[in-house]
Amino acid sequence: MEGGRVHVSFLVFLLSFIVITTHSRGHGSICPPEKHAALFVFGDSLFDAGNNNYINAIPFLLANYPPYGETFFKYPSGRFSDGRVIPDFIAEYAKLPLIPPYLHPDYSQLYVYGVNFASGGSGALVETRQGPVIDLKSQLNNFKTVKKQLEKELGHEEAKELVSKSVYIFSVGGNDYATPFLTNSSIPYPLEEFVDIVIGNITTVVKEIYKLGGRKFGFSNVAPLNCFPILRMLGNASLDSCQDEQVSVLAKLHNNAFTNTLEKLEKELKRFKYAVFDFHNELIRVMKYPSKYGFKEGEVACCGGGPYRGDYSCGGKRGIKEYELCENVSEHVFFDSIHSTDRASKHFAELFWSGNKYITKPYNLKALFGIEIKAV
Ligand SMILES: *[C@@H]1O[C@H](CO)[C@@H](O)[C@H](O)[C@H]1NC(C)=O
Ligand SMILES: *[C@@H]1O[C@H](CO)[C@@H](O)[C@H](O)[C@H]1NC(C)=O
Ligand SMILES: *[C@@H]1O[C@H](CO)[C@@H](O)[C@H](O)[C@H]1NC(C)=O
Ligand SMILES: *[C@@H]1O[C@H](CO)[C@@H](O)[C@H](O)[C@H]1NC(C)=O
Repeated sequence: MEGGRVHVSFLVFLLSFIVITTHSRGHGSICPPEKHAALFVFGDSLFDAGNNNYINAIPFLLANYPPYGETFFKYPSGRFSDGRVIPDFIAEYAKLPLIPPYLHPDYSQLYVYGVNFASGGSGALVETRQGPVIDLKSQLNNFKTVKKQLEKELGHEEAKELVSKSVYIFSVGGNDYATPFLTNSSIPYPLEEFVDIVIGNITTVVKEIYKLGGRKFGFSNVAPLNCFPILRMLGNASLDSCQDEQVSVLAKLHNNAFTNTLEKLEKELKRFKYAVFDFHNELIRVMKYPSKYGFKEGEVACCGGGPYRGDYSCGGKRGIKEYELCENVSEHVFFDSIHSTDRASKHFAELFWSGNKYITKPYNLKALFGIEIKAV
C-alpha cells in the first residue's frame, strides 16, 4: 500500500530526526534510510550498549552506575566503559546514528539503522554465564523478530534489501574461555574440542543470519584474556608470560581455527563477505607500547583496586565498596579490569574500520560497508 509506505517512511524520518538530535554528538551527516547499510551488533560486554540494564543482571554484569559513562555520555548508559564502546565508533564512521540497545524501551521502532543485541557476560555457549544474560542464540532470535518488524514497516522487498546490505558485527568467544578461570572451575572440554564447540555455535548463528539474508559480517577476534588486569591480578604474570597461559592459549587456538572456518564459509556461501579484526594482537601491541599510541598506561586499569587495579570493583557495587579512579582516563588503555576506555575503544574501532590487511582482513569494515550486494 503506497499510502502506508509513505506514512511509515515519514515516521521513520521523524523518529530518526529525534535520535539524531538527541545523540548526534560527533556525527557528521547521517545517510537517509534508503541509502545506508545498517549495523547489527552481537556479542558480549565489549559491544553491549546497555541491554543488560533491562534484564535481571547481577552487578558483575552491569555497568549502569557511576563512574561508568562519565567521560562521554555524562551518565552511566550501561556500556562497560567510561564512554563509548567499539560499535559506537563504527556507527559514527558509517555515518549512522548511535545504534540503540535492543531492549531500550524508547527505540523499539528505530531499527532501520540497525540495533545492538549484545549482552555483557554472554558467550557462544548457552552455559557460559554467571547470571542472567542474553546468550548468542537469544540474540539471534531477537534479530529474527527485528527482521519481521522491518518487513512489516518497510515491506518485503525493502526489508530484504536492507538486510542484505547491512553489516553484522560480533565480539564473541572471550567469555566462553574466560569464565572457567574467573569462576575457578574446570575447563569443560579438552582444549581443541572446546574451541570446536564454541566455533560450531558461532557458525550456526552466522549461517542462520545468512539464511535470513545477511551477507556482510565483521568479527573482533578473541583477546589475550590472561593479559586483562582481572586475570593478571590472580595469576600475577608479566605481560610476556600472560600470553602463554592456558586461557590465552585457548584464545589463540580459537582465532586460528576461526580464520579457517571463515575461509570455508566464504567458499560455501555465495556472496558471503567478512572482516576479522585482530583485536588479540592489537591489544597486546597497545599494552606493550602505550606511548606509541598516545597512552601512558597500558597495563593498569583506570578504575578498580589491587594489583593492576584488577579486582573489578569499579563503581563499588560488585561486593567491594572501595575503589580507586585514575586522574586522567584518556591515559589508560583499560578503564576497568576487563574493558577498554573510550579512547582505547576508538583506537580499536579505527583499526576495525580501516586497518590494513595485516590487522583487519580480508576486508576491513569500511570496505564491507562499501560493497554493493543486491538482494536476490
Ligand atoms: C580454586 O580451586 C582450587 C581447587 O579446586 C583451590 O585449591 C583454590 O584455592 C581455588 N582458588 C580460588 C581463588 O578460589
Ligand atoms: C553448541 O554448544 C553445545 C554446548 O552448549 C554443544 O553441545 C553443541 O555441540 C555445539 N554445537 C555445535 C554445532 O558445535
Ligand atoms: C607477584 O609477583 C611479584 C614479583 O614477582 C611478587 O613480589 C608478588 O608477591 C607476587 N604477588 C602475588 C599475589 O603472587
Ligand atoms: C589526559 O591525557 C591525554 C592523553 O595523554 C592528554 O591528551 C590530555 O591532555 C590529558 N588531560 C589532562 C586534563 O591532563
